[in-house]
Amino acid sequence: MLDRTSVEKRLSTMEIPTLPEVMTRVIEAASSDTASAADLTAILQCDHAISARILRIANSAFFGFQGKVDSLRRAVALIGFDTVRFLAMATSVFDYFSGRHQNVIDVRRFWMHAVGAARAVEMLGRKLPGIFSVEACYTGALLQDMGIILMALEYPTEYRKVIEIASESPLYLTEIERGVLGLDHVEIGAWVAQAWHLPPLIVNLIQHSHDEPEETVKLEPEYTVVRLAHSLADISGFGFDWVSPESVLSSLYGIRLGLAPAEIDDLREALSEMQEDATELMDLIVLEK
Ligand SMILES: [Fe+2]
Repeated sequence: MLDRTSVEKRLSTMEIPTLPEVMTRVIEAASSDTASAADLTAILQCDHAISARILRIANSAFFGFQGKVDSLRRAVALIGFDTVRFLAMATSVFDYFSGRHQNVIDVRRFWMHAVGAARAVEMLGRKLPGIFSVEACYTGALLQDMGIILMALEYPTEYRKVIEIASESPLYLTEIERGVLGLDHVEIGAWVAQAWHLPPLIVNLIQHSHDEPEETVKLEPEYTVVRLAHSLADISGFGFDWVSPESVLSSLYGIRLGLAPAEIDDLREALSEMQEDATELMDLIVLEK
């Protein structure tokens, strides 16, 4: 096992990625329940590269609109604020990570998991209206595992070992990471989110994204929602194939939110059906770079 202090030291000298300011603003607006579609499009308009990509994606055969989607306002009207918000966050964060090469983690799979968890949050938001901030949970779900990519970037050999152990054992991923590297993707993810000045709730959602169930339930419902979304994504085919899904967690968190096991099952089924669409959308984001 690597010594924790030396890992921390190396990470603290690691060149942290400053997130371009426009992306921090996009994430902030996307995570806030008071920001409107107009606020987000105003921010996006400051970044021509991102706006142009969103428009290219909105004009793709995937959405199949006749006529040209030639402005972000029109994109919001046609494909909806939620999708534009998703595209804005996914393209900006995706770009940031894909600019830094690593070949340990299948990045497409990584994003699929994030997308699955974010979609699960949307579904939970419709099922349980008004009890949690869908926007904050959405960002939390999308970004909760970014520590995995950062660990793979900084410690490729060790992270390969983590994957090897994870594929053969039912241990929690965070436990394996701590065993091999001395710290886990939760700590790193929260640390980067803080360095990026993301809203405190998002930092905390990442920080608690692998708490034990009894710890999570002591906190606001948002924490349980992000945990449930993570595990729903895992059991609906959106996970890494080397991570054993913590299936039992879904029902535990579901109960906490007042959802019966049958309802969790319905959510899992609905989410599984979104896989194909999500893969196509992911490909678009990757290809439209
Ligand atoms: Fe995680």
